[in-house]
Amino acid sequence: MGNRPFYKLPYGARRDRLAAQSHLTVAQLGTLAAHRQATDEDLIENYLTTYGLPEGVAVNLRVDGQTIAVPMVTEEPSVIAAASNGGRLLTSDVGITTQVSQRELMGQIVFSHVADQEKLTAWLTHESPRLLKVADAAHPSLLTHGGGARSIRVRCLPPDWVSLDLFIDVGEAMGANLVNTLTEAVAADIKAHCDVDILMSILSNYATHSLATASCVVPVDQLRTKTMPGATVAQRLVAASEYAQVDPYRAVTHNKGIMNGIDAVVLAMGNDWRAVESGVHAYASRSGQYRGLSRWWLTDGDLHGELTVPLALGFVGGATKVFPLVAINQQVAHLTSARQLMGVTAAVGLAQNVAALRALVTDGIQRGHMALQRKSLALSVGTTPAELPAVMAQLQTIKQPTTAQAQAALATVRQANLKK
Ligand code: MEV
Repeated sequence: MGNRPFYKLPYGARRDRLAAQSHLTVAQLGTLAAHRQATDEDLIENYLTTYGLPEGVAVNLRVDGQTIAVPMVTEEPSVIAAASNGGRLLTSDVGITTQVSQRELMGQIVFSHVADQEKLTAWLTHESPRLLKVADAAHPSLLTHGGGARSIRVRCLPPDWVSLDLFIDVGEAMGANLVNTLTEAVAADIKAHCDVDILMSILSNYATHSLATASCVVPVDQLRTKTMPGATVAQRLVAASEYAQVDPYRAVTHNKGIMNGIDAVVLAMGNDWRAVESGVHAYASRSGQYRGLSRWWLTDGDLHGELTVPLALGFVGGATKVFPLVAINQQVAHLTSARQLMGVTAAVGLAQNVAALRALVTDGIQRGHMALQRKSLALSVGTTPAELPAVMAQLQTIKQPTTAQAQAALATVRQANLKK
């Protein structure tokens, strides 16, 4: 076994080799074993164990006239509380409205060392109708599901690159494999017809043809806090949104808050959050400067908010099939299509953003976060659910509790319990 590549070893031998190399204790091995899931073993290479993340639901969200609970997977204690709070703040008759006008994925074929960009562009443009047919023929079942290759765009990039962009309607699917199959088929056809240097053919995660917009209009009074009138909160919130347009240092954090919500929904719905992350941040830079993704403004005493993000999310296929929780999560959120999923995900991003900005421009973020952070600190030192209230009561008296103080609080609680 000693010389066999790691990935060829059976599970037990792999774990034993790792245990020896990393000096894992029996207790640590027990933890790995306890989280092992037979269903995950063939999903990835070198499977070791299953790393679980907590799932909860955001409530109070009214999206397109329907009140829904949205499953979210996240390890950050305040995220679901903020999404629910944001949902409450943005409640109106219809609540948050969403719009998804188009849902196409893009594959790109990159040509390098192109001697005459204009000539190649003209040829590709002329051949487009045929190339679309070649793409469709590579996956005929896509047509039976109402999808297919829709259009071709050609871009010339300095000094001598050309990209053929193939736009594909992938139906309800996540579609990455579909797009790669169609794009490679088109590339092979082009190679067979002309002498070109094709560097690569691959899906682009910059999903500019799958934009989802969430918007809302709420009376400013809805934003009031115990100490600040709604009109003042709204003005300060608008200022925060304007500042995120001019300072990339703030824009990144502003957008991180939005992605707290979006990523958590994307994960719960079995989609590729890395694809979403990279596309969203590229979109935030589309003007040449990285900016906040959402805009907030005031008109006639109402606060308006809008968030547009590229979200090429799928409803079927890929990991949505692999994880049984995804089907349940789709049902919990009353979702029946990819477009709905895209809209609801953007709505959660907008709700997440309003909650963060309102907290930031009023009491500051720490006040709301501290209770949740105390709880996760207590849990991180081994507090059981039964011990939690007593440990929390002790930590409540400390302004910024440390791990050592949480350990001490737990020890005190356990001592007291022994004496009972
Ligand atoms: C923390 O995870 C997210 C915030 O920093 C977002 C923001 O600053 O807008 C609170």
